Amino acid sequence: MRKRPEEIKVLVSRIYPEIGIELMQKEGFKVTAWNKDRPMTQQELIEAARKNNALLCTMTENIDKFFLNECKHLDIISQYAVGFDNIDISEATRLGIPVGFTPDVLSEATADVAFGLMIAVSRKMFYLHKTISKGQWTYFRPTANLGIELKNKTLGVFGLGRIGVEMAKRCKGAYNMKIIYCNRKQNKIAEKLLDARLVGFDDLLKQSDVISVHCTLNNETKGLFNKAAFNKMKQSAIFINTSRGMVHNEQDLTEALRNGNIWGAGLDVTNPEPMQPDNPLLSMENVAVLPHIGSATVETRDKMSKLAAENIIGFYKNKRVPCIVNPETLTSK
Ligand code: GLV
Repeated sequence: MRKRPEEIKVLVSRIYPEIGIELMQKEGFKVTAWNKDRPMTQQELIEAARKNNALLCTMTENIDKFFLNECKHLDIISQYAVGFDNIDISEATRLGIPVGFTPDVLSEATADVAFGLMIAVSRKMFYLHKTISKGQWTYFRPTANLGIELKNKTLGVFGLGRIGVEMAKRCKGAYNMKIIYCNRKQNKIAEKLLDARLVGFDDLLKQSDVISVHCTLNNETKGLFNKAAFNKMKQSAIFINTSRGMVHNEQDLTEALRNGNIWGAGLDVTNPEPMQPDNPLLSMENVAVLPHIGSATVETRDKMSKLAAENIIGFYKNKRVPCIVNPETLTSK
């Protein structure tokens, strides 16, 4: 039987932009938001979720088999992120729990970060910024602090989905970069738009001057960028990862940079997160690291908040979830 709006209780697991919370309140839903500036422990989350019908959460929450079975009463889980590797989707599907997510709205902001990291690495920007605060800016030195140029180089996109396409557009527009990509399926629209060419993984590694990772984290992509992969890349290559830190092996990446097997790296995601302050990558000249800020603009976070709320509202109003990971759960409801 359909719940009346005032019977719908939504737990919001973090401090999110108000816009989504207000939308749900306008519908008459009762919204309880965790107000501490840290993720809940799983036990705290289970206890709170038990008092609610729906959960709005993000990637800091571990929605594993245990959680799902403790909270199988949940009508819907709405993830405030495009990635959902923190959620056991097959278990949620088995239990008939729809999982919403927030794709598209964050593609441009995330691509901006990948593009920014690429330029920052190519000109050693983060490292040189730090030298100034250490009093090491002496005088103009004609052969010091040299970076490399990006014009007419080859961008290899690993995962040419929405974010990968935005990154490729930026690289083509700004530097006339040639685009090659590796993807599960051919992306004909992107090929037409960007003159992109589908290649195998080895060719991507061998031919790219910059590799930018935009895939999801799954069993196939976990640890894929490892020693063997870095060894196949050009010694002048830059590795960029704005997807999930577990797609690269951080130890292998550090060694590849140390040994000069690749030229530089830009990371918005690390393994583990947070990266520890004494991580050797942080003191390397050709490395730029950011604390997982891909979608972190006011505009994008508002859009994500709105979409995450709309996924819940749509579910209760007409059994339609605008962006859903496991649509098969809706037919069984
Ligand atoms: C961020 O990493 C996201 O998945 O939205």
